[in-house]
Amino acid sequence: MSDLQERAQALDIEDGLAPLRKLFTLDDTVYLDGNSLGALPRHVPARLQEVLTREWGELRIRSWDESGWWTAPERIGDRIAPVVGAAAGQIVVGDSTSVNVFKAVVAATRLAPEGRDEILVDASTFPTDGYIAESAARMTGHRIVPVAPADVPGALGPRSAAVLLNHVDYRSGRLHDLPGLTAAVHAAGAVAVWDLCHSAGALPVGLDAHGVDLAVGCTYKYLNGGPGSPAYLYVAARHQAAFDSPLPGWTSHADPFAMTPGYAPADGAVRGRVGTPDILSMLALEASLDVWDGVGIDAVRAKSLALTDFFLECVAAYAPEGRVTSVTPAAHAERGSQVALRCEDAEPVMAALIARGVVGDLRRPDVLRFGFTPLYVGFADAERAARVLADVLTGSAAPAA
Ligand SMILES: Cc1ncc(COP(=O)(O)O)c(C=O)c1O
Repeated sequence: MSDLQERAQALDIEDGLAPLRKLFTLDDTVYLDGNSLGALPRHVPARLQEVLTREWGELRIRSWDESGWWTAPERIGDRIAPVVGAAAGQIVVGDSTSVNVFKAVVAATRLAPEGRDEILVDASTFPTDGYIAESAARMTGHRIVPVAPADVPGALGPRSAAVLLNHVDYRSGRLHDLPGLTAAVHAAGAVAVWDLCHSAGALPVGLDAHGVDLAVGCTYKYLNGGPGSPAYLYVAARHQAAFDSPLPGWTSHADPFAMTPGYAPADGAVRGRVGTPDILSMLALEASLDVWDGVGIDAVRAKSLALTDFFLECVAAYAPEGRVTSVTPAAHAERGSQVALRCEDAEPVMAALIARGVVGDLRRPDVLRFGFTPLYVGFADAERAARVLADVLTGSAAPAA
C-alpha cells in the first residue's frame, strides 16, 4: 500500500461524516458527479411509495390538506433554510432554477431605485442565467453589463439596478466572495441576486448574515433531491413586502381559493410561488433532506476542503507531468467543492474514467470536473480517482498539438 493509500485510510477512519455514506444508495464506483446529480438517499423510495399508494392512491384530493401537499413549498423551504444560513420564512421551493432566475432578476429590478437601467451579470455564468437575464433586461428596459465577478466593484455605479452572480463557478469550481460582493452591490444602492446551485449543501452560504437580497438554487446537486427536483427562491424578509413577482400565479395569491379576478400577493416568501407544486418531486426532495438532520455545514465544508486538497495532492503525485492542470483555485477561500482539471483530450479521458468506475463529467472542450459531496465521498475514493486518472493518462498519449 502506498503512502497516499495509507493516509486515505487514516483520514477515512477519522472522518466524522463517514457514517453518512451508508444513508445513500451507492455501489463500488467512485461517484464524483454529485455536483451534477446527487446520489439517492436509501429511504427515499419507500417514502415515495407511501406518497403514491397512500397519499395519492387512497387519500387522493384530500392529501392537499391532510398530507400537507399545499404547504410543501414553504415547509421544504424552511428545511433548506439552515443549510444556506437563512431564518425560516424566506425560502419557497418550486419551479426550476431557470424560472427562479427570471423571477429574481425581474423582481430585483423592481426593488431597485427608480431610473437605474443596468443589470450586471457574471460574464462566466452558467448559460441559463445569462440567457434569462438578457430576456428579463429586454422586457424591463434594462441593458446587460457582463462582468467578471471580481470586477463587479469597479463596474458598479449609479446606473446599476441589479447584479446576478454565481456563488461557485460551474466550470472552474471557483468560489466567489459573496460577503464582499454583496456589500459592494449594496454600497452602490443596487440589489444582489445570487445563484447558489454549486454551493448550497457544500459550504456555508450565510444568506442572512451577509445581507443577500434574493437568491436561487437547485436541489438536485449537493442537496440530493433527485433528477429535476424543484429549485428554490430566497427573498430576504426585509424585501418581502415589496417583492413584485413577474409570475404572479394563483398559488402566490393571498387567498388563492377565493378565485378573484384581481391579484393580491400573499405575505412572505409564498409570494414567490407560481402554479400547482410538483408534489412527487417535491416530496422526494423533502425526504432526501432528512440526511441533513444533525449535520453541520461547517463540518461539511471542512471535509470538502480536505477532500479536494487530498485529491489535488494525489493528482500531483500520480499524474504524468503536464497532462492535466488544475483550473480550480488552490486557495481555500476561492474554492467550492469541485476540482476542475484542464486536459486537452478531456472527452476520451472522461469516457475511460467512467468505464473504469470513476464517474465525473466534463465541460467541453477541455475541462474534467470532479465533484466532491462530503456526505458520501471519502478519502479512499479521492485517492482511487486520482490513481485511475493517472493510469488513463499514462496509457493514452497526449494528442499531438
Ligand atoms: C449555476 C447553475 N445555474 C442554473 C442552472 C440551471 O438549472 P435548471 O436547469 O434546473 O433550471 C444550473 C444547472 O446545472 C447551474 O449549474
